[in-house]
Amino acid sequence: MEYIIFAIIAYLLGSIPSALIVGKVGYNKDIRLHGSGNLGATNTFRVLGIKAGIIVTLADILKGTVATLIPLFMDADVYRLVIGLFAVLGHTYPIFAKFKGGKAVATSGGIILGINPLLFLIMILTFIISLYLSKYVSLSSIITGVVSIIASIFFHNIGLFIVITVLTIFVIYRHWDNLKRIKNKTEPKITWM
Ligand code: G3P
Repeated sequence: MEYIIFAIIAYLLGSIPSALIVGKVGYNKDIRLHGSGNLGATNTFRVLGIKAGIIVTLADILKGTVATLIPLFMDADVYRLVIGLFAVLGHTYPIFAKFKGGKAVATSGGIILGINPLLFLIMILTFIISLYLSKYVSLSSIITGVVSIIASIFFHNIGLFIVITVLTIFVIYRHWDNLKRIKNKTEPKITWM
């Protein structure tokens, strides 16, 4: 029974639409009506600037990390990972924002931070290098997912490997339109790096 309660709490936590809240409260702007329309950190940077972008990035990461801490007394990582997945589900399909949320990247990273900070560091480095080379946030998010699958093998944690694989497939699915835009050369590149 407690698993169900933890999963619901994690889903509700993930559903907190930080990008929407920061936009509306701090800037009187609904970012769903601007930029890519995505309720995520990238679109927040794009529409509201660096300060708001950093706040939303940290908040979205934190949702995943806190979710993995909910079932702390259950020692196996696998329970914490699965509860974390519900936070990603909430972030992507938030009950508090008409089920239209982000693309699962930051909150997925937050899960990994809660379970394996070293792997999270590898992901951050991979993301920065990919972004430097490609200038595409979306592509860098996908590359980070794929590299993290490979990196997770070295930690000998089958639960971690499976959850990262599931998350990466989900991230690719959520970025399908971005991939199409990259193919058509209409995906915006970052200009500041
Ligand atoms: O994490 C989302 C990012 O990879 C792409 O966001 O707004 O450019 O579609 P966006």
